[in-house]
Amino acid sequence: MTQVSGASDAPSMGRRQFMNLLTFGSATGVALGALYPVVRYFIPPSSGGAGGSVPAQDAQGNPVIASEFLAAHNVGDRVLAQGLKGDPTYLIVDSGDSLRNYGLNAVCTHLGCVVPWQASENKFICPCHGSQYNEQGKVVRGPAPLSLALAHVEVDGKDTVTVAPWTETDFRTNENPWWA
Ligand code: FES
Repeated sequence: MTQVSGASDAPSMGRRQFMNLLTFGSATGVALGALYPVVRYFIPPSSGGAGGSVPAQDAQGNPVIASEFLAAHNVGDRVLAQGLKGDPTYLIVDSGDSLRNYGLNAVCTHLGCVVPWQASENKFICPCHGSQYNEQGKVVRGPAPLSLALAHVEVDGKDTVTVAPWTETDFRTNENPWWA
């Protein structure tokens, strides 16, 4: 008899627990749903392919084709392309058949002017307030406080030049990347 009585209580407790769970689940779901936009706000959008890589683009918005690009430029050239988030990014020609494996964001770290490459000086010299960066984009004269941001540069299987975020140590300063 005890067993029967216990059995009759059990469904009652089960239903209560079920209702509690349902209520908790609903509340949690609503809370998570409300939080989702907030959480999304803090997660940077993916900018493209593996590792966030995107095709570098020329001034017309066409993908940069490595073989064509190398044929059109000389060793040592630093050539602007559109990189991550459309930022002007220097691609560097290392030899007749290779690009340097990093690019330099051309936006001056002082107040944001695009910094031209001065081949005769072997430096980037900002026309706005005179900041200078060496050939690797490391700041060598202020007022710019920081070196030019780095990005990975690779050539994919279709001969397209791609740019990807640089999140590792800045090899020029041995510090964490300020831009990541
Ligand atoms: Fe480049 Fe000021 S914006 S030095």
